[in-house]
Amino acid sequence: MEKETHFTHISRPKAGMGTAVNPDITRASTLLFDRAEDLYRSDIRGYGRHGSAVHDTLKEAFNLLEGGAGTSLFPSGLAACTYPILSQIKTGDHILLTDSSYGPTRYFCDGHLKKMGIETEMYNPRIGADIENLLRPNTSVIIMESPGSLTFEIQDIPAITKAAQAHGVTTIIDNTWSAGLSLNPLKLGVDISCHAATKYFGGHSDIMSGAAVSRTEKLAKQVALTAKHLGNACSPDDVYQILRGFRTVVPRFRQQEATSLALANWLGTHSKVQQVLHPAHETHPDHAFWKRDFTGGGCIFSVVMKPCHETDILAFINALKLFGIGYSYGGFESLAIHCDPQLKRSVSASLGGPLVRFACGLEAMEDLKNDIEQALNEIS
Ligand SMILES: Cc1ncc(COP(=O)(O)O)c(C=O)c1O
Repeated sequence: MEKETHFTHISRPKAGMGTAVNPDITRASTLLFDRAEDLYRSDIRGYGRHGSAVHDTLKEAFNLLEGGAGTSLFPSGLAACTYPILSQIKTGDHILLTDSSYGPTRYFCDGHLKKMGIETEMYNPRIGADIENLLRPNTSVIIMESPGSLTFEIQDIPAITKAAQAHGVTTIIDNTWSAGLSLNPLKLGVDISCHAATKYFGGHSDIMSGAAVSRTEKLAKQVALTAKHLGNACSPDDVYQILRGFRTVVPRFRQQEATSLALANWLGTHSKVQQVLHPAHETHPDHAFWKRDFTGGGCIFSVVMKPCHETDILAFINALKLFGIGYSYGGFESLAIHCDPQLKRSVSASLGGPLVRFACGLEAMEDLKNDIEQALNEIS
C-alpha cells in the first residue's frame, strides 16, 4: 500500500452509528484509576505528560513514514534534534556535526554541550567515507543533515553510516527537508531520523512540532527515556493538528517539490544567478548522490546570485509580492530570505556571491516565477 493510502486510513475507527472519522482529543494532566494498586504500574500511562491515544496514533504514523521501531514526539523541530543527541552522549565524549547543520542545532552542540564537557567537531558535509579519519575512541555520535541547511550539500549517507557502524558510533540525521517522503535514511543505516514536523506536517504555518524516529527499539527507548526525564510533553491539540497534516502531506509535498524544481531550473538559466543550489538540479555538485539515495526533492532551495551589493539583494527580497519574508518552509505560502547574515561555516567551502533561499508554497508556479522575475529588476 502506498504511503498516502496509509496516512488517509490510519486510526480510522470501526464504523458505528455516527462515529467520528478522526480520533478524539483527550486533554489531561491527571489520569484516574479505579484501584490504588494500579497507580504504580509501569505498563500503563500514569499521567498526562506521558501522552494520550492521539499521541500514540501520531507516533504510529511517523513509524510508518520512516519504517522505524519507535518515535518520540517533541514540541518543536529543534527539540526533536537536541533530545536524541542528548540521549546518546555523556561528559567527555566527542561528537561530529555536519558544518551545514541547521544553525540552532550547531549552537546547541557547540555552546550548550561544550559547557557539559562534550567536544563538537564540525565536518565537511562532502567528507564521505573519510569521516572514519575523524573518529576517536570517545566519538559517540555523528549528526548529519542532507541536504544541508541553506547550502544544500548532499552527504554520502551509506559511507558515513558504514564507518559509524564499524566503530559503534550512533548516527542521527535531520531529515526535515525530505519529509521522509523523498529520503528514507533508516534504510541507509542511519540510527535516528529527526523531523521538524512544524514544516510539511503542520503545513499551515501555525504550529510547532517535532518527531524523532529510531531504527531499533533500544534506541527508541533511550530517546523516550531522555525525553521523559527532561519533562518533555506535547499538547494533544498540537499532536492532533500534525496528524491532520499527515492526511494531506503527500499531495502538498508533491506540488511543492515540483514547483521548487521548476523554479530552480528556470533560475539556473537567469543572467543574474551564478549557481542554483537544488540537489535535484543537474548542475548540483552532489546530484549523483541525490539520484542514488533520494526518490524526489523538497520545497526549498537556494541560489547564489552573481556578485552584487547587499542593498540590491535586500531590494530584491523587499520587491517580492507573493513570497513572504520569514523563516521556515513546508507551509501553504511561499517565503524568501537572504542567508548571508546567518551563514556559519568552519570547514566547508565558501560560495562566493550572496545567497537567497526560496521556500515554495502552494501558489501556482507561473505566478511565483513572474513574481521573482519582476523583483529581479531591482538588481542592477
Ligand atoms: C532543517 C531544520 N531542522 C530543524 C528546524 C527546527 O524546527 P522548529 O522551528 O520546529 O524548531 C528547522 C527550522 O527551520 C529546520 O529548518
